[in-house]
Amino acid sequence: MNPKRILFDTDPGIDDALAILLALASPEIKIEGISVVHGNCSVDQALTNTLSVLELAKAAQIPVSRGFELPLVQPSLLAPETHGDNGLGYAQLPAPQTRPVHQHGVEFLIEKIMSAPGEITLVCIGPLTNLAVAIRKEPRIVQAVRDVIIMGGAIRHEGNTTPQAEFNVYVDPHAAHVVFHSGMPMTLVPLDVTYQCALTGQDVARLQKIKSPIPTFIADSTRFYMEFHDEYQKIDGCIINDPLALALTFAPELCDYEEHFIDVDISGGVSMGNTFADFYKMTKKPANMKVALGVRARDFIELFLERMEKLSLSLFGA
Ligand code: BDR
Ligand code: CA
Repeated sequence: MNPKRILFDTDPGIDDALAILLALASPEIKIEGISVVHGNCSVDQALTNTLSVLELAKAAQIPVSRGFELPLVQPSLLAPETHGDNGLGYAQLPAPQTRPVHQHGVEFLIEKIMSAPGEITLVCIGPLTNLAVAIRKEPRIVQAVRDVIIMGGAIRHEGNTTPQAEFNVYVDPHAAHVVFHSGMPMTLVPLDVTYQCALTGQDVARLQKIKSPIPTFIADSTRFYMEFHDEYQKIDGCIINDPLALALTFAPELCDYEEHFIDVDISGGVSMGNTFADFYKMTKKPANMKVALGVRARDFIELFLERMEKLSLSLFGA
């Protein structure tokens, strides 16, 4: 079978970088391109990080495009306390040699989706600014995209940015509103499932038995991320949200799903950016997406570790 064709929209970010590595380690899928957005760090830093991670994994041929540096309406909100000032924790990757394509991220997404109708799976693991504008600019992408997997939201789970809101949605709730109401075939991967998926110090130590730049990068970046989780959330290890969303492109059985009408609060009060499901069908609105609400967490972490081991060995030998 031909590999599934994937487009990333991302803000690397520690777990975004891990999602890119997981994609490169997965023969079931092929990355067609990456559009970058503000979020965990500035868009320019995220662009540098994307190119550097691709070079680290010898995948510099993948086209990368710069998207928006600001949310649609809200002021900028970055996450240095979670991902470090450069977005990759304590990891120091060499400055990239490759350049991004000249096309803006929005044009890039539109062109890639429209040139392969029914073929492209879009994996959105940052704030949804690029996709929202792409939908407004070329509404035909709604029908042309094969499906969209979105890491974002907290349905029954507490927020990680406000008590009620998850980071990707909170940073640009108006963009999330456009996307959620677009009619695209979507799967939401909220904190309800990602917060069950902690990568631990022991897991990282297992990877470090292989001497290669990939485990070193994972160890240096996640050490910072683990310190954040310990200090702010009393979690042992770190939550690898974005790799779970990516894994569902080829291993959907890792999660259990329900179909619901899901919306986001953009009214500007204390629940700004809250994502909520109409579980009892009170609005009578048809379901607008699938949402992952159960996960086989340890199976996923095991899959992640095995693939990182294989990638390390295949790129850098034993
Ligand atoms: C999401 O926010 C970012 O910090 C992570 O990269 C992930 O995409 C989790 O709320
Ligand atoms: Ca992210």
